[in-house]
Amino acid sequence: MNRTKTLILALLAMASTAFATNPTTTDEGMWLPMLIGKNQAQMKKQGFKLTPQDIYDINKASLKDAIVMLGGGFCTGEIVSNKGLLFTNHHCGYDAITTLSTPQDNILDNGFWAKTNAEERPVEGLFVDILVRMEDVTNKILPELKGLDEKARAAKVNSLGNEFSKKATDGTTYNASVREFAKGNAYYLFVFEKFTDIRLVGTPPQSIGKFGGDTDNWEWPRHTGDFSVFRIYVNKENKAADYAAENVPYTPKKFLPVSLKGIKAGDFTMVFGFPGRTNRYETSMGVKLAIEKVNPAIINSRDIRLKAWKEEMDKDVVTKLALSSEYANIANYWKYFIGQTQQMQRLKVYDQKLALEAQFKDFAKGKPAYEGIFDEWQKAYTAYEPYAAHQSYLSQGIFGANVVQMALGAGALEPMLSDTAKNKAMIAQIRNSTLKNADEFYKSFNLPSDQKIVAQTLLLFYNNVPKDQHPPVVAEILKEFSAGTPEESFKKFAQEMYFTSHFASKANLVKFLNNPTADGLTNDLAYRYFNGFRKNYVSKFSKFAADFQTADKRLARAYIKGLGEMNPDLVKYPDANSTLRVSYGNVQTYAPRDAVHYDHKTTMKGLAEKYKPGDSEFDLPKNFFDLYNAKDFGQYADKDGQVPVAFITNNDITGGNSGSPVLNAKGELIGLAFDGNWEAMSGDIVFDKTYKRCINVDIRYVLWCIEKLGGSDLVKELQIVK
Ligand code: ARG
Repeated sequence: MNRTKTLILALLAMASTAFATNPTTTDEGMWLPMLIGKNQAQMKKQGFKLTPQDIYDINKASLKDAIVMLGGGFCTGEIVSNKGLLFTNHHCGYDAITTLSTPQDNILDNGFWAKTNAEERPVEGLFVDILVRMEDVTNKILPELKGLDEKARAAKVNSLGNEFSKKATDGTTYNASVREFAKGNAYYLFVFEKFTDIRLVGTPPQSIGKFGGDTDNWEWPRHTGDFSVFRIYVNKENKAADYAAENVPYTPKKFLPVSLKGIKAGDFTMVFGFPGRTNRYETSMGVKLAIEKVNPAIINSRDIRLKAWKEEMDKDVVTKLALSSEYANIANYWKYFIGQTQQMQRLKVYDQKLALEAQFKDFAKGKPAYEGIFDEWQKAYTAYEPYAAHQSYLSQGIFGANVVQMALGAGALEPMLSDTAKNKAMIAQIRNSTLKNADEFYKSFNLPSDQKIVAQTLLLFYNNVPKDQHPPVVAEILKEFSAGTPEESFKKFAQEMYFTSHFASKANLVKFLNNPTADGLTNDLAYRYFNGFRKNYVSKFSKFAADFQTADKRLARAYIKGLGEMNPDLVKYPDANSTLRVSYGNVQTYAPRDAVHYDHKTTMKGLAEKYKPGDSEFDLPKNFFDLYNAKDFGQYADKDGQVPVAFITNNDITGGNSGSPVLNAKGELIGLAFDGNWEAMSGDIVFDKTYKRCINVDIRYVLWCIEKLGGSDLVKELQIVK
């Protein structure tokens, strides 16, 4: 009896130590691939079967050679065949897909699969970068910065960066840049190879690729087939080259095999990609400012644009195709900021920050480098706070109207028009470059929504920005277009603007640019409006933002350094900055709230449950149910007989990671990361171990959509592991 009891106690003790070191509780971190060796023991413990050299090696092919940064960092993709085939998210390919769609050939709604290489569609302007190597240059830079103020410091970093980059790429076709980490506590050089001939190979219809739309966006449980497929093309020497019909598919150094073996809770997962930005060292003051001022300005401004666009997009397909991509971008971060605000409040992020700062202040006592930081920081915030929202109401609201953006482009013209004879050549040049972009621009220019956006964002600014910050043009508008209330006056003004402005249509613009005059420009209502707001901000208020940012960066740099001295565990990895990172973790369930448990995966059954015929977010393609009812699942069903659709892991990711490969312990592709979850929307500020999850589309669903739903034989090109 006693012995049994002892044994049980011993077992319990073992279990609790196992829990204390349970790897699934330590998954915060976006690690630099070059330094991943220091995580090796922990990764092994969590199940990883490869070595650091398999992840990052500059002498032989490694996983990093299969990872691409899309379009300068807005997303990630991965190479999955020896013919340069690329997987990424549907929402990452969205702009390319909408641009290639027409009402007659609507691949956004109908999907598209190229049957031959010749059918693959070049995407103008899209490019990818692959990392060749990285190098720690901190010790070559920091000593040069001693005693410099912020401005001189930035200039010095810039010139040293250019020098190192040049040295690193001389005699090659590569490009390089030096990137700042931890607000200037470290610097790394990155050498990239850039590929500019990228072609669309296929996409599911958006009813699959964007299933659940904005309703399900940022939320689990999820059923979105968020993938699209591209291919990298190169010249005959397998070197990056601009588009040419005779270019050939790229033979990569490395591509990812695809595993159909399936996953279960607890399995090791690694996400390898380009997270954009986190701000994990944000202060309590920053959190407060975001919750109270900045986030509401962003949310309310975007809300206006979204509602105005949606109304028009629902009317006809041409408008829908023209506005879809911008709509999706604005909607994505509209909901993001709503969620971030809510979850910062729910998870008491402000209090968490305060607690850490109290600890730091204690540590800083008597240390001249750190002692005064928070007093100085508070002063900087106090000086900036009254002006903090002004810029957001401009950039997210007033300047969000298309007509204003077009007027902005004409800003360079104004100084030239005082002497048209002398500046003839310059004027012609501006005219030509403006007209060159005009076609593209006016394609997505929608007059009825734009007019509403002008009137409503102006009203929002009027009601929310302190009166003493308003530009004189606001009072002028109220006087010249007086119609009772400010709301009515702004409507009248917007209407008149669209009747008369040179920028309200391509025809007007051409007419004006053929014979531009100074009066014609400065009296134009769109130009007057834009310029009034711009001049006011630049001459009176931008300095508050600039002063704040300078102080904020300097103090944050000292704070992060000090935190590292106080407790090295607090600064183990640097904030995301669009550089290549590894995040490792495990497949993991969670409980979003009392009595509710979320499973780690969803299946096709859930698609059928959410299905709403004719709905803009929850409709499904016709052949989906033919295949589903016939259980035509090919090799993609799980042991339970269902095709898995999405799964969650506790990997640490953020925007920019979208499209990143999710790899199993052996480095095989099991899914594509595509989102974060609602309960941890504050994750860019604080990683919450209880709630933060990474949402991924299961590779088996991706392949089912390609082969069964899409009828494409592309799967043959992959290296499948069963
Ligand atoms: N939330 C996703 C991300 O930022 C993007 C999802 C796009 N879908 C949408 N409904 N807007 O990675």
